[in-house]
Amino acid sequence: MRRGTGQLDRRTFILGASTAAALAQQGASSEAGRQVYELNRGWRYGGKVQPGFFALDFDDSKWESVTLPHANVLLPWHSFDEKDFQFVSAYRRRFRALPEWQGKRVFVDFAGAMTASLVAINGHRFEEYKGGYTPFRFELTGHLKYGGDNVLAVELDSTERKDIPPFGGNIDYLTFGGIYRDVQLRVVPKTFIENAYVKPVRPLEDNRALAVRCYLNGPVSGGTTITVELRDGVRVLKGHKVALSGAAEFHDVTVEALGAVELWDLKRPKLYDVVIKLANGDGSTDEYRTRIGFREARFTPAGFRLNGAPVKLRGLNRHQTYPYVGGAMPARVQRRDAWILKKELHCNIVRTSHYPQAVEFLDACDELGLLVLEEIPGWQHIGDKAWQDIAVRNVGEMIRRDWNHPSIVLWGVRINESDDNHEFYTRTNALARSLDDARQTGGIRYKQDSELLEDVFTMNDFGFPLKPPNHPLYLNTEFNGHMFSTKRFDNITRVAEHVVRHARVHDQLASDDRYAGGIGWCAFDYNTHSNFGSGDHICYHGVSDIFRVPKPAAYVYKSQCDPEEDVVLEAGFFWSSGDKSEAGGPGVVPILSNCDRLKVYFAGALKQELEPDRKTFRHLKYPPFFMDLGNLPLDPWGDLKIEGYLKGKLAKTLTLSGSGKDADLKVVADDAELDGDGRDATRVVLMTTDEYGNIRPFATGAVTLSLTGPGEIVGENPFALAGGCGAIWIRAKEEAGTVKLTAAHPYLGRRSIEIRVRAAPAEPV
Ligand code: GAL
Repeated sequence: MRRGTGQLDRRTFILGASTAAALAQQGASSEAGRQVYELNRGWRYGGKVQPGFFALDFDDSKWESVTLPHANVLLPWHSFDEKDFQFVSAYRRRFRALPEWQGKRVFVDFAGAMTASLVAINGHRFEEYKGGYTPFRFELTGHLKYGGDNVLAVELDSTERKDIPPFGGNIDYLTFGGIYRDVQLRVVPKTFIENAYVKPVRPLEDNRALAVRCYLNGPVSGGTTITVELRDGVRVLKGHKVALSGAAEFHDVTVEALGAVELWDLKRPKLYDVVIKLANGDGSTDEYRTRIGFREARFTPAGFRLNGAPVKLRGLNRHQTYPYVGGAMPARVQRRDAWILKKELHCNIVRTSHYPQAVEFLDACDELGLLVLEEIPGWQHIGDKAWQDIAVRNVGEMIRRDWNHPSIVLWGVRINESDDNHEFYTRTNALARSLDDARQTGGIRYKQDSELLEDVFTMNDFGFPLKPPNHPLYLNTEFNGHMFSTKRFDNITRVAEHVVRHARVHDQLASDDRYAGGIGWCAFDYNTHSNFGSGDHICYHGVSDIFRVPKPAAYVYKSQCDPEEDVVLEAGFFWSSGDKSEAGGPGVVPILSNCDRLKVYFAGALKQELEPDRKTFRHLKYPPFFMDLGNLPLDPWGDLKIEGYLKGKLAKTLTLSGSGKDADLKVVADDAELDGDGRDATRVVLMTTDEYGNIRPFATGAVTLSLTGPGEIVGENPFALAGGCGAIWIRAKEEAGTVKLTAAHPYLGRRSIEIRVRAAPAEPV
């Protein structure tokens, strides 16, 4: 059971019956012939590898006890050495093989480990798996011991191996190390459902159908049948059963005459379950479940269409890494990023730059209605034939893992910003199309003069004005970024210019239907190599900082939603009298809002009434406002109050303090409850604010943290605030209770928060 997702694991997907619910309570799930056991707790981690640990008599009792997701080393949030996580490490997990598994097949499924995994069961080694972003599995059947401990051992190479994408050249991000995604054991009958590609056909027409391609593993005997059911919750809407005539690479089942369904769209992302039942000729059964949405997503010469309606794409690139632990964050934290992008920043698309990201993140995109461009691992460099073979394999792994996510609308099948390579990209496109003929392909390039083998010309265009589209289907996949790296706490001139640069690109994209839209670089600041970024192992290219706290540019995105959804009124500047060259105020500064009129008060008196700047930003639905208060009296200096009006009615107020003092310390957790499984985690943001709750952008001060109860701090303690803010994460221990976190600031005093930790039964094997 995946915690915090409220739904079941699609890779193996099984629950639904009451016995399954009971098993789920124990950390296992079962239905119709398969069981899945989580293997995320009870690992031993040996750090840098000790030769011989594959041997069965190896004593690992002194090794550290860890849970997954796991980072091979904890790091400061910046200014560390990128070599610190590049080493070979060792993990071991003992488990019991249950008697009822005998006669069945047992697999171990790794969702992702960085970067090359040498796995052994009871001393038997499998071939090394090369790749840090894609799932892999090994069959343990025949190597298990019944009635004794089984030892699963992993030698994990987290160095930058030149033989594996994305490595071989320079890359502008860090990959980090560790078994940083989940592991499961899967027990299935001799013949089982390996995977299923479920394609809604003609979703917009009355005669809509479901085309289901079932991939079986194992011999197919006479009398085998497959039944496909479309379900809405527990309600079976339609089913269809077919008898198989023999072995084949896959078996197609079409469910016709589905009747009315609710479409998946951005506002109401309705999801359905598809349950596939296999009845083998020998009496064994298997069941596989996946989640789908009915939608038609097409890039056309007049832009992107969702269910036939034009949608201007407006989004951001996301790296999957976090401070301290790299990629090793659990489901809840992965899902939070999707929530931030959709609900806080009101984006409608995200690009998983530059690799397949956690399935939990994609699940959240499905549930929230956030479109996705997903791409294979790589950055500018193309390696030799063997390297390219891995990249082609990555295309297949990515698509097979994620083909049923309605949120995914485009596959990126080129190495980001690589040069043309006709043969290589002919292969990646052919594979993508053969697996999934419902989605278009793209491949991200940095120049227009490049061979188009994909359907959509996906272009990183960092200049301004943007280049006119040179192909009928055209999407901007990166802009701004390194051209204007901006810290959340930079000088007001810079943060205001950062705002304008994001706004003007979206304005130009909105000016011409041939642009499908744009995905800015990028959502969050990210850790990188020393030869990129600001010299502290960070690229400050985000519209939010590395802790996911917005910079003013984030409000360009946030303000593009309709006020019925959220009334937005945010400052694109910091309130001060002299931090800009113009005297007497902040100068000309942006305000981001979807209100139709603003009133600005200084020191209690109405100073200005503002309208959106429709002259400069003629195409944006909600252009920025610009405030120029001229020379303000410095005495008395005072607060700035902005009122936002909609159709003449006051809809929102924003007040920025003129007092110049740190008034409050705020400690804000994303979640009030966690699962006590040793894995679950939540972010806790620490901020110094003015008396109105606005972050004090230049505040410093070390916050000393203390914690009681079943949790631990993932992060630095004391935490030195950077730009008045920062975050740590709290990870639950394997125990129920209440975590109390107290933060003590040198002069703002102490604040405490509590997080309840629910009991989570131990894993059964
Ligand atoms: C692009 C690249 C991104 C990032 C960005 C910085 O060229 O694709 O990964 O490095 O530049 O602006």
